[in-house]
Amino acid sequence: NGSSSIRVTFVTSDGERHETSGKEGDTLLDVVVDKNIPLDGYGACEGTLACSTCHVILKQEDFDRLPNKPVDEELDMLDLAVDLSDTSRLGCQITLTKDLDGLEVTVPMDLMTCVWLLLAVAVI
Ligand code: FES
Repeated sequence: NGSSSIRVTFVTSDGERHETSGKEGDTLLDVVVDKNIPLDGYGACEGTLACSTCHVILKQEDFDRLPNKPVDEELDMLDLAVDLSDTSRLGCQITLTKDLDGLEVTVPMDLMTCVWLLLAVAVI
């Protein structure tokens, strides 16, 4: 049944909206990958806290109700993110809970993302 599906909307910096959904326990990165959300370069390190391409900006009330606080490694990576805001998190560190149904996040596309993407392509 669909009751376990948690709605998430990704909004890009140019205003494009990607409405989708994930399962409880998925990270935002899992959702982007599973649902083929076209966010170029998103999640370059596959959730290993070695990049900042999965950077998302949350609404204050969503930021406040996230179940987990960022660990030091996440904060270090966020420091490298362009457009860092007070409500920034790394999407691979945000795990969906039923409580987060209707979550809407902004994905800032920035120069660092392009750099990471080029690096990722170069490594492959
Ligand atoms: Fe690289 Fe989240 S995907 S830190």
